[in-house]
Amino acid sequence: MKVLVIGSGGREHAITWKVSQSKKVKKIYCAPGNGGMAQIAELVNINAENIEGLLKFAKENKIDLTIVGPETPLVLGIVNKFTAAGLRIFGPTKEVARLEGSKVFSKKIMAELGVPTADFQIFNNTEDAIKYIEKKGAPIVIKADGLCGGKGVIVCKTIAEAKGAVEAIIKDKKFGAAGEQIVIEDCLIGEEASIIVISDGKNVVLLASSQDHKAIYDGDKGPNTGGMGAYSPAPVITDDLFKIIMKDVIYPVIKGLADKSTPYKGTLYAGLMVTKDGPKVLEFNARFGDPETQAIFPRLKDDIIELMEASIDGTLGKKKLNWNKKPCVSVVVASGGYPEKYEKGKVINGLEEAGKTKDVVVFHAGTVLIEDKKNGTKNFITNGGRVLNVTALGNNVKDAIERAYAALDKIKFDKMYYRRDIGYRAMNRKGGDGYEKESCLSNYGK
Ligand code: AMP
Ligand code: GLY
Repeated sequence: MKVLVIGSGGREHAITWKVSQSKKVKKIYCAPGNGGMAQIAELVNINAENIEGLLKFAKENKIDLTIVGPETPLVLGIVNKFTAAGLRIFGPTKEVARLEGSKVFSKKIMAELGVPTADFQIFNNTEDAIKYIEKKGAPIVIKADGLCGGKGVIVCKTIAEAKGAVEAIIKDKKFGAAGEQIVIEDCLIGEEASIIVISDGKNVVLLASSQDHKAIYDGDKGPNTGGMGAYSPAPVITDDLFKIIMKDVIYPVIKGLADKSTPYKGTLYAGLMVTKDGPKVLEFNARFGDPETQAIFPRLKDDIIELMEASIDGTLGKKKLNWNKKPCVSVVVASGGYPEKYEKGKVINGLEEAGKTKDVVVFHAGTVLIEDKKNGTKNFITNGGRVLNVTALGNNVKDAIERAYAALDKIKFDKMYYRRDIGYRAMNRKGGDGYEKESCLSNYGK
């Protein structure tokens, strides 16, 4: 079959890599793709948000399955459009992708279905929002309603900071229409983890747990980024917690949306804070996590195409997935300056050598491949903030960390930056071996 993968980040390279291992797949296109994806697929120069362009391409090239990486096309309704045109596409419709596309929608659904989440209120004017902040005190969290490229959530340590955030979003329209409404919610304390599932609208298959590292500096200091590294599994998600999350979060949402005649098909990502009162949902995403996917897919033994087709066809049933028990650690290599200003166009050296290391795979994010066929040269050039995800499986978390950083040491480009402590929480846990228990891997069924 012919597959089209939409997107150009590390997540999409990991998806493409996994898709390329499926016996069912003969040809992969990526739109627009990156330098890493160019090695295993044909790149198509169509932006991920150009839905009409993608639709035309898919029709003309008789694409059998389209896989959507990022959230924006999902929220814009790419699945509705492709489905209406009779094309097969993996992902949620725009009606339910609003779980990610609108924090207001997401919080209302959670409140309605009794899903554990931080207490909150919704505002569309500065005065009422400020009164609420003064009543609640700090720390407090301000969230713009719509998609803001990961910048719409501000965790405020002081009342002054919270007031400033409200004014910037509502009054100064920092995020435009995405900030017409805001959610103000209690600040939760605990350890974060992600649970990602694939649903067919009724049944659910669990992927392994994972943990992202959002802050730019070691020790989780500094501003939040799109994610500086991840590992899977996340030992903070014990067997018991897994069961609670399925019972209290995942199944109520899947069933609740099906009951409203808007079934959720595709990937559902729950970002959780494990608090002393149990797990609480911070956010839902309508897609695979980035960089979590880069740490999850190297462990997944099953054919991802079969899972995606079963999601579309409503035939997931009680499928159980098979996992490599080795933990996986993925370290993001960024351009110096990210998440603020950074330079592009730097030649990346050492990629081939790094990729040769056993149990190591380097997923590309912001790279382009420049080939000079005449001279037979190939160069990978930096083209974004997050550039690479150096990913390693290990006998335990410590081993995976050491392998990832040993491979990373072989890679060089001007002004490269990476965190040196990815995986530290899992490594420092009692035992520190990070092995996932068998029952964590099972599908808990309906
Ligand atoms: P979100 O996009 O809603 O997941 O928010 C991005 C990040 O902000 C999360 O990964 C958390 O680190 C932080 N965050 C969001 N909501 C809260 C909250 N209620 N309490 C504490 N931290 C939060
Ligand atoms: N790693 C967080 C996200 O994908 O939203």
